[in-house]
Amino acid sequence: MPNVQVKDLGTQVNSDVTVTGWVVTTRSSGKIAFLVLRDGSGYLQAVIPKREVEEEVWDVFGTLSQESLVAVTGEVHAEPRAPGGYEMLVRTLVRLSPSVEYPISPKDHGTPFLFAHRHLWLRSRKQVAIARVRHEVVQAIRDFLNDEGFTLVDTPILTGAIGEEAGNLFATPYFDLGEAYLAQTGQLYVEAAAAALGKVYCFGPTFRAEKSKTRRHLTEFWMVEPEVAFATSDDNMRLQEAFVSYIAQRVLERRESELQELERDRSALERIKAPFPRISYTDAIERLHAKGSPITWGQDLGAEDEALLAADHERPLFVYNYPKEVKAFYMKENPDDPRTVLNNDCLAPEGYGEIIGGSQREDDYDQLLARIQAQGLDPEAYGWYLDLRRYGTFVHSGFGLGVERTVAWMCGIPHIREAIAFPRQIHRLYP
Ligand code: 4AD
Ligand code: MG
Repeated sequence: MPNVQVKDLGTQVNSDVTVTGWVVTTRSSGKIAFLVLRDGSGYLQAVIPKREVEEEVWDVFGTLSQESLVAVTGEVHAEPRAPGGYEMLVRTLVRLSPSVEYPISPKDHGTPFLFAHRHLWLRSRKQVAIARVRHEVVQAIRDFLNDEGFTLVDTPILTGAIGEEAGNLFATPYFDLGEAYLAQTGQLYVEAAAAALGKVYCFGPTFRAEKSKTRRHLTEFWMVEPEVAFATSDDNMRLQEAFVSYIAQRVLERRESELQELERDRSALERIKAPFPRISYTDAIERLHAKGSPITWGQDLGAEDEALLAADHERPLFVYNYPKEVKAFYMKENPDDPRTVLNNDCLAPEGYGEIIGGSQREDDYDQLLARIQAQGLDPEAYGWYLDLRRYGTFVHSGFGLGVERTVAWMCGIPHIREAIAFPRQIHRLYP
């Protein structure tokens, strides 16, 4: 009998096939038994009428438990009410491997228990749907950038200089050279590559020793970082809104059943279309005051401030030109208001907060050196980075989009830790 994947059953209606998969649920009335299987490509309901099968088949059914591995053979029928749209009338059933006391039952478990069993929890329907949405987001990112003429440049994870800020570094001993830091960002390296290739991006894991437990922070997360030669901060925001809109539309188009499984409100995603509204940091502070926030000019926006601002919009919101003091050393000073820099955050609606941080980069050698010194960083560690301002310095901009925050938003799940297969957080290193 041909071995068929569940996703291909539509081509096998009324023929006999074999499907191999794990048992999701079993139930029996005593006369007829139902078996739902998962094979990694979909779900299949297999039906076993006691009087029509050999006794042995019925006996094997009796030994099955959740996550046993089985091979079922029988005829495929279209069945609109079955999950996946097809059903199998079973003739033979073989148990290939047992599963004794599988710890995750269909009843509700607490979150700590589920994360302790993350290696098994990944098999459940909702987690499978999230994984597929994540895959689509990653594929959409690559396709968009490729179509727009970007070249992928892989940047190092072991780095000698602080990329973003000193406060949350992971350090590891590095032979005779002192300490290496796990990359907080690939940005400084893609800036160098942009002078070689024009439009570039890096895409990989980044690391921050975040000591806080929030819904939005992991210690290891994936970030895509496009960097564009000759782009201004304004060009940068245009690219971001096109990028984010493309990702959302791709998920809507290609992950309909997953969004349904997640009970995601599609209309919220349908509204994600460029252009996105924009507000300067300074105007945002005024708006926040009007809403009763105690924030003062010069402070970074907290999660609550972001939520207050984003609540006014159904699309993502750009907040641009933040105070220099609260932002990283590499952002270009705003010539019209030197208290601020030419940067932007992109705040997702529905309370998801910052999904992108971006900026035009400081391209003036002296200004950059002054900023490095002012932040107490070692100019020697940035010699190579300063070189980019010595040899044909150029206007350039870029941004970083956090994959887990984007996936959580697309899926409508409250916490980003479910948006990656094996999350890393302050208190979580296993599995
Ligand atoms: O705003 P951030 O820190 O920007 C940078 O790292 C720049 N170097 C990017 C660039 O211009 N090339 O981080 C960018 C994004 C955030 O907006 C957020 O989506 C995500 O990365 N992010 C995190 N995601 C999960 N856990 C964390 N601890 C994160 N920190 C940042
Ligand atoms: Mg940021």
